[in-house]
Amino acid sequence: MVTRDYADLPMKIKLPEPGVSGVSRIEELLAKRRSVRRYTEKGLPELIISRFLWAAQGISSKDGLRTSPSAGALYPLEIHAVVGEGNGLEPGIYRYIAEEHTLTREVSGDMRDKLAGAALSQPMVRKAAVSLVISAVYPRITGKYGKRGIRYADMEAGHAAQNVYLLGMELGIGTCAVGAFDDEEVKRVLKLPANEEPLYILPLGYI
Ligand SMILES: Cc1cc2nc3c(=O)[nH]c(=O)nc-3n(C[C@H](O)[C@H](O)[C@H](O)COP(=O)(O)O)c2cc1C
Repeated sequence: MVTRDYADLPMKIKLPEPGVSGVSRIEELLAKRRSVRRYTEKGLPELIISRFLWAAQGISSKDGLRTSPSAGALYPLEIHAVVGEGNGLEPGIYRYIAEEHTLTREVSGDMRDKLAGAALSQPMVRKAAVSLVISAVYPRITGKYGKRGIRYADMEAGHAAQNVYLLGMELGIGTCAVGAFDDEEVKRVLKLPANEEPLYILPLGYI
């Protein structure tokens, strides 16, 4: 961890303590949020998988707005669930269709080993009951914002991932934002189309 020396800065104001318990649920969850890399063997019921997908990218308004903010409401993100053995869904890789809150199975079988292999063999990706993979279809947003749209889509992935972290803390389910992986290999495992770029892997498992 990097520490910085702020000793000589002028006009410093000591802020009131934020208070992390008994203030609000969201502040308690923010204070609790940590990256968790070890999980129990317990699988995730279908309803829990559904709740995580909704938290990441679900529709939360009548006019189709979602749980995560999106530049121009263009929604360039896609979410896949890589489901291992022992969960409330058959093992496989599923694409989340936010507009319908449905899943479509794109690959059959437990692909966690393959996904972990693509993620520099990080053990939590191998061990997680389910991993969510956030990817971006940049052309959906670069049409309006040009090159800057790439930055916007990447920022959105951060919003979606934070939603997953916070829901996880509420449910006793850990995650860890994983950005270290081989893009092409993840694309191969998920059978992503050429225009869809993986940004984050979020392994999920009970703590
Ligand atoms: C963009 C990004 C990429 C990350 N990639 C990895 C990763 O590949 N593997 C990993 O174990 N942690 C990864 N992390 C998690 C960080 O290591 C973690 O957030 C940091 O150590 C602070 O700990 P905390 O999240 O528990 O507060 C990543 C975090 C971010 C924001």
